Amino acid sequence: MSRLAGQVAIVTGGARGIGRGIVERFLAEGATVMIADLDEDGAPIEAALGRHALYRRLDVTRADDWTAAFDALSDRCGRIDILVNNAGTSHGGSIEAASEADWRFVMDTNALSVFLGCQAAVKAMRATGGAIVNIASARGQRTGAAQCAYSASKAAVLSLTESVALHCGELGLPIRCNAICPGVIDTPLMRGHAAKQSPGDPAAAIAAMTAMGIVGRLGTPHEIGDAAVFLASAEAAFVTGAVLNVDGGFRIRDF
Ligand SMILES: NC(=O)c1ccc[n+]([C@@H]2O[C@H](COP(=O)([O-])OP(=O)(O)OC[C@H]3O[C@@H](n4cnc5c(N)ncnc54)[C@H](O)[C@@H]3O)[C@@H](O)[C@H]2O)c1
Repeated sequence: MSRLAGQVAIVTGGARGIGRGIVERFLAEGATVMIADLDEDGAPIEAALGRHALYRRLDVTRADDWTAAFDALSDRCGRIDILVNNAGTSHGGSIEAASEADWRFVMDTNALSVFLGCQAAVKAMRATGGAIVNIASARGQRTGAAQCAYSASKAAVLSLTESVALHCGELGLPIRCNAICPGVIDTPLMRGHAAKQSPGDPAAAIAAMTAMGIVGRLGTPHEIGDAAVFLASAEAAFVTGAVLNVDGGFRIRDF
């Protein structure tokens, strides 16, 4: 039996990287998935993923985009069961290097986005129920000097996850809200970060990032997808306000 059979989901940032891994796992488990991302043209993505995948342009920092996407999906499918707030950026910078503009960009893309998504989801799911999965980061639990805005934005996502779960519980709404903290996952974002960190030798930066965990390799987008399937499915019916670390041991690593 497929674990998400007949479920209707939105995955932000689903065009590539971790989001794409989540979309592929959701489709394999029987869900219909709206892939919400910045590209204007989603035809190639829909063609590659089959008839249960639909693409929509959505800028996660814009409240009006959220409203339009939820309205369109609910008109088409009758309800929305799952939201995965995955879209994000890794823009780095220490307290001395980061500008105010960097801070605002990271906070908008990583934290305001999740606030707006949770608002739209709670409104849409309050009668029919559902599951929200927020993609935070191991860096939201364990920061670094060069990560001031990024870590703060992901810590905000972790706190927001608990607040949304508590709100739904207190009102008796059948909505669960959980977070995943990925470690270093092999995606275009991670590779771009490695190229910036070590322009002449990105492999060295990737090796250093791999050594931040204890498993000895990078994680894959499908491994985050597997965790998201669990949290979105009935198997996690008693799980809310939780954080699932899928980080190869990054958080507990004794540097
Ligand atoms: N890759 C990692 O090692 C890693 C580790 C921990 C957490 N994360 C988190 O996982 C999530 C996905 O990361 P990734 O590595 O797959 O990144 P990625 O850059 O490879 O993919 C991100 C996707 O989000 C989309 N996106 C960006 N801004 C958007 C916006 N304003 N509106 C809509 N879509 C937008 C991009 O177009 C892209 O398709 C992010 O929240 C990131 O912070 C990644």
